[in-house]
Amino acid sequence: MILESLEFLLTPTTPIARKYGFLYSSISLRHRYHRQKKNWLPHLKNCQDLFLETANSLPQRKSVVVMGSAHLHEIPLHLLMDTFEQVTLVDVIHPLKHHLQAKRYSRLKLVTMDLTNALDKLQELNSLEDLNNLATKLAGEKLFHFEADLIVSANLMSQLALLPLDAVEKKIKRTLELTEKDVICTQFAETHLKNLSACKGTKLIYSDREVIYRDKSNEIMYTGHYPVSFTGYKKLKEWYWMLAPLKEASKDYSIEMKIEAYKST
Ligand SMILES: C[S@@+](CC[C@H](N)C(=O)[O-])C[C@H]1O[C@@H](n2cnc3c(N)ncnc32)[C@H](O)[C@@H]1O
Repeated sequence: MILESLEFLLTPTTPIARKYGFLYSSISLRHRYHRQKKNWLPHLKNCQDLFLETANSLPQRKSVVVMGSAHLHEIPLHLLMDTFEQVTLVDVIHPLKHHLQAKRYSRLKLVTMDLTNALDKLQELNSLEDLNNLATKLAGEKLFHFEADLIVSANLMSQLALLPLDAVEKKIKRTLELTEKDVICTQFAETHLKNLSACKGTKLIYSDREVIYRDKSNEIMYTGHYPVSFTGYKKLKEWYWMLAPLKEASKDYSIEMKIEAYKST
């Protein structure tokens, strides 16, 4: 408890990250990882294998950028540091341990940024139409640019629209229809993909593309999917990840994800 309070106090955060609870989510994610490590192992191994296969196929391994690095449960820091000379981690919040490692190793750089450029505009949203307009505007902007031998989008794509959707739901005081949410998720994902494609270097993406909720009798209650065009990418693999078995996120349902991995061609 004392350690956690210290972590809350000492982790560097931006006003935006504080406002939208990213520090709290980051610490919760780490706790969930420790509780569910056994269930997550096949997923983590797939991510590591794909990372190593892709890295080994490169003509040189000087630099790597990982977007959505979080705690690096999927591609551990030691693997990144052993494989590449320069490692850049990009996220809206970095855990304290990565700040400490970056102080120790000049080969490790942290970039703290909102990869959607939407978070500081959320309080201006009054309707779904405002969010659609914002997503359309952002689709025409250059949101980020990185150059590296390998650029990884690490289980980030499906997360990008969550806070914007949440902000609109709170403002209009109704739950959005799934079809309405899918349109926004697709827009945010495609804008991310467009910016990623413009980066210089080989790209590796893995992301959840489908979510499956099952009730106590293991019957499917809900399946969600947002369509995205991966033109210019080759599908490497797909697998299922038991993110939260029954009683982890809820006593009434389990949550499983279908993950897809792609590499730029
Ligand atoms: C599911 S986690 C990724 C897991 C991570 N790859 C790992 O190995 O543990 C998603 C990450 O995306 C980050 N994120 C969400 N929205 C973001 C945004 N708009 N800009 C930058 N990072 C964002 C979150 O802070 C979180 O760390």
